[in-house]
Amino acid sequence: MRPSEPQFHAFSDDDAGVRGVIAIDSLALGPAAGGCRLWHYPDRAAAERDAALLARGMSYKNAMADLPFGGGKAVLMAPLGADRRAAFRAFGRAVEALNGRYVTAEDVGTTTADMRAVREETRHVAGLPHDPASACAGGDPSPWTALGVFHSMEVAVRHRLGAELAEVTVAVQGLGSVGRRLCGLLADAGARLIVADISEARVAEMAALHGALPCAPEQIHAADAHVYAPCALGGALTLDVVERLNAAVVCGAANNQLAEPKVDAALASRDVLYAPDYVVNSGGIINVAAEYLGESTLDVEHRVQAIAPRLDALFVRARTEGVAPGAMADRIAAQRIAQAQPVRARAAVPA
Ligand code: NAI
Repeated sequence: MRPSEPQFHAFSDDDAGVRGVIAIDSLALGPAAGGCRLWHYPDRAAAERDAALLARGMSYKNAMADLPFGGGKAVLMAPLGADRRAAFRAFGRAVEALNGRYVTAEDVGTTTADMRAVREETRHVAGLPHDPASACAGGDPSPWTALGVFHSMEVAVRHRLGAELAEVTVAVQGLGSVGRRLCGLLADAGARLIVADISEARVAEMAALHGALPCAPEQIHAADAHVYAPCALGGALTLDVVERLNAAVVCGAANNQLAEPKVDAALASRDVLYAPDYVVNSGGIINVAAEYLGESTLDVEHRVQAIAPRLDALFVRARTEGVAPGAMADRIAAQRIAQAQPVRARAAVPA
């Protein structure tokens, strides 16, 4: 159900010390939005493969979040030259050359300061420094991501266990920007917590703040919990992990949780309810999109509050049609993209 093959826009600037590629997966719903990743790749082909995969993920995530954006992604091939600002300004010129068809933001390996350098060359960028007192959207997306995951978990627990969060134990893997905020929301809701992180200090902090029980990072998926919340790196759910999972629900913030597509069906066959990652963790991109569109924090709140009802409907449809939730999400997202009236690439770009 591919709407189209991605378009690749390779760029390089030897003087600025940067080379990479921008992949545009879909423009059906609006400009292609997705972050800029800085990573080590053996060659340009590998960078293109990664960019294409990530851009496809953004198309689906943006479509499911009901955002007026298609999917794209930029990857820069590490290492950059010595002058980082010059490298990101050169990348900004590559973004500008696409004339609003691609909107960038920070991602793995890139920072707010990098986006500020990009902004010197193009306005098609979000994830810029933000005044916390402002009513305009912007700033750290993590609280919005955590809120979307929290409400999604409420829905998933009701579906699978017929219970409220106050009645369950949640095993949280990864206590970074999102995971620690999720722990706070869960503790306020009365859930019991089991937590793991490779940072002992972060585990100790959650134990002190919320009475969370510490767990070894390599054991967290097998913890005696009703819910497993992957909030660290991608690929947390392998076939092996599924075999050892105690939880009846998987709902977390991490991107690309399924190590391979068949894990979706493996979870379903063990009667584990999987809340598709890109559906529940879209609070971050919602915030970034709102910043770009010049929307308010209230707009972000409304969009984030829509995530859980959307998940609810997805679970019902998946059950009715006998499809695993991950496959159901992919099907809905692909349908939304396929059915969209092609919009002019600049339609969603603020004046
Ligand atoms: P972060 O980098 O702040 O936190 C990740 C945490 O995971 C760190 O505390 C790290 O020590 C821990 N960790 C790493 N390996 C681990 C392991 N093997 N076992 C246990 N803990 C481990 O990242 P952040 O921003 O909290 O994001 C978490 C996940 O959610 C990532 O996969 C990210 O791509 C995804 N995500 C984040 C969004 C956001 O708004 N920050 C938006 C959408 C997705």
